[in-house]
Amino acid sequence: MNSNSKITVETIRSMKGRGEKIAALTAYDFPMTRLLDQAGVPLLLVGDSLGMVVLGHPDTTQVTMGDIEHHLRAAVRARPRALLGADLPYRSYDTVEQAVTNSRRLFDAGAEFVKAEGGCEIVPQIRAILAAGIPFLGHIGMLPQHVLEEGGKYHIKGRDDAGRDRLMADARALADAGAFGMVLELVTPPVSRMLTAALKIPTIGIGSGSDCDGQILVTHDLLGLFPWFTPRFVKPRLDAAGQMQAAVEAWRREL
Ligand code: KIV
Repeated sequence: MNSNSKITVETIRSMKGRGEKIAALTAYDFPMTRLLDQAGVPLLLVGDSLGMVVLGHPDTTQVTMGDIEHHLRAAVRARPRALLGADLPYRSYDTVEQAVTNSRRLFDAGAEFVKAEGGCEIVPQIRAILAAGIPFLGHIGMLPQHVLEEGGKYHIKGRDDAGRDRLMADARALADAGAFGMVLELVTPPVSRMLTAALKIPTIGIGSGSDCDGQILVTHDLLGLFPWFTPRFVKPRLDAAGQMQAAVEAWRREL
């Protein structure tokens, strides 16, 4: 990867061919986007996880287009070298028309790609988004936007033959529709390995084992910025919350 040039969808796709691991993180504002970009992360996402780690909602289902646009505009101001995309929030792509209108809104706000959750059932939406000239990143496996339908629990996917076959059908459908890559969330490691080997486009795992083409994390989890909940698969690299608290207490004591 050339160290100065702007990262494009093609750059990300070609990393799979070269066996270069794709690091991806969420970014929801100007300073974090700038810092992560300076740390050399090639793929950044204004994820709807912002609903939980920034806005204080219990899950991602209450995130609106307005929320994503607001944070996206802040992230875009960092003018990252990284490829910067945004999530289409819950219920914003139920129909093909909604998918195109809302993807255009994010594209106009500066997103270089959009991501939405789902497999075969959203292929018409994906085709329409791509026909509108907007790159698309898929997201299969555990779908946080459907957590309430799943009884409020985040279940691991691909545990049995039916689950594995379903994931394979979804992954192939996304690739055939033209997605440039796909997130695999909470997919069993053997199934992630199988999908990664079967697909020409990159897989980016989260809680899905180490054999995907890349890994994505919620930055707040990686940096210990949201200490009230850390997913089991994350090994925080920093206790940012603890350090912030200690720094503020030290300052307060010295007043
Ligand atoms: O919303 C999000 O942040 C995501 C990634 C963690 C995959 O979808």
